[in-house]
Amino acid sequence: MSYDIQKIRADFPILRRQINGKPLIYFDNGATTQKPQQVIDCISNYYLHQNSNVHRGVHTLSQEATDLFEGAREYVRQFINAEETNEIIFTRGTTESINLLATALKPWIVKGDEILVTAMEHHSNFVPWQQLCEKRGARLKIVPINRNGELDLEFLEKMMNPYTKLLALTHVSNVLGTINPVKKIIKIAKDKGIPVLLDGAQAIAHTKVDVQDLGCDFYAFSGHKAYAPMGIGVLYGKFNWMRRLPPYQFGGEMIDEVTFEKSTFNELPFKYEAGTPNVEGALALETALRYINETGIDAIRQHEDKLLAHAETKLSAIEGVRIIGTAKQKTAALSFVVEGIHPYDVGMLLDKMGVAVRTGHHCAQPLIDFLGLPGTVRASFAMYNTKEEVDLFADALVKVVSMLK
Ligand code: ALA
Repeated sequence: MSYDIQKIRADFPILRRQINGKPLIYFDNGATTQKPQQVIDCISNYYLHQNSNVHRGVHTLSQEATDLFEGAREYVRQFINAEETNEIIFTRGTTESINLLATALKPWIVKGDEILVTAMEHHSNFVPWQQLCEKRGARLKIVPINRNGELDLEFLEKMMNPYTKLLALTHVSNVLGTINPVKKIIKIAKDKGIPVLLDGAQAIAHTKVDVQDLGCDFYAFSGHKAYAPMGIGVLYGKFNWMRRLPPYQFGGEMIDEVTFEKSTFNELPFKYEAGTPNVEGALALETALRYINETGIDAIRQHEDKLLAHAETKLSAIEGVRIIGTAKQKTAALSFVVEGIHPYDVGMLLDKMGVAVRTGHHCAQPLIDFLGLPGTVRASFAMYNTKEEVDLFADALVKVVSMLK
């Protein structure tokens, strides 16, 4: 079946908007994706027909809402091929997923331990580990990258030692677009008995994720970067890990029994879902993941790879433009700088021409510092973007450069 880009675009109402009198070209998908009508309808249908609290009521609405909510969990399990449904913990997003894990792992990290992260991490997969290390007297070690934006696996292996308690790395870099060879890396770590967390925020909507095949212990992602709403995300955690770790937040739903003297805690995944969850978010996440599945993740990847290659060719031809991140394996994100022009100014002027990009350090300040840049401009693609949009973007960039030079 061919990739029906017009049909896909028709499903995303916001793409019909004009910005500053120009058709919107939305290239800020790395920050958040737009939502198809199906996802928007799912949210309103939930409030029109099922709204009720889950796991708490004997009444019909509550039971319907519970079934839908648990159905969404099962769909997420299938989507990432987790072994068990109770390995899927709903969170607010990648940031909360990683904070949850960092909190739960706290007692397990002691003075002298080491945690490995890479130089290309988003703050969400950096600051929680930095804080944990500070609190526990552990050492945070940073795996360096080369100038192309790739990890040196031999060096990474040398950094692992008997004190290494965790390797936390991104599946895909939000700045460089690098797809890390995570399966290989996980194998190296596992051979040394080191657990691995993957930050999948920039991967989940762009490449097939199979947590059993990858062999990771933990995988975190956000719904909103995969066509679902903001405020819903997932932490996948292997049952054997999560069952042993302590709770993250305390309150309703996460308990088993509470007396004035003490409390015991619920089984997985509820132990990690204190309070009323984001039910409509979970349902909308299922709808978004179904949408990805129906379109086909491989077809999406192929489409986005073509857009990326085309954009790289077009931008390389513009004088003064330098692409940041030239890894062999990349997906969906293209960072660049324009000689002598601040990224912010480029972004502002592109917006005047209807093109939405992100500028700045992209919540990856250590990486931007390492690269010695003031920031970058980042165009990031999604399944609904087109080659024509890339052409218009490149034309707009030529104008911006000539205006600011
Ligand atoms: N993490 C998001 C980005 O890279 C917000 O833009």
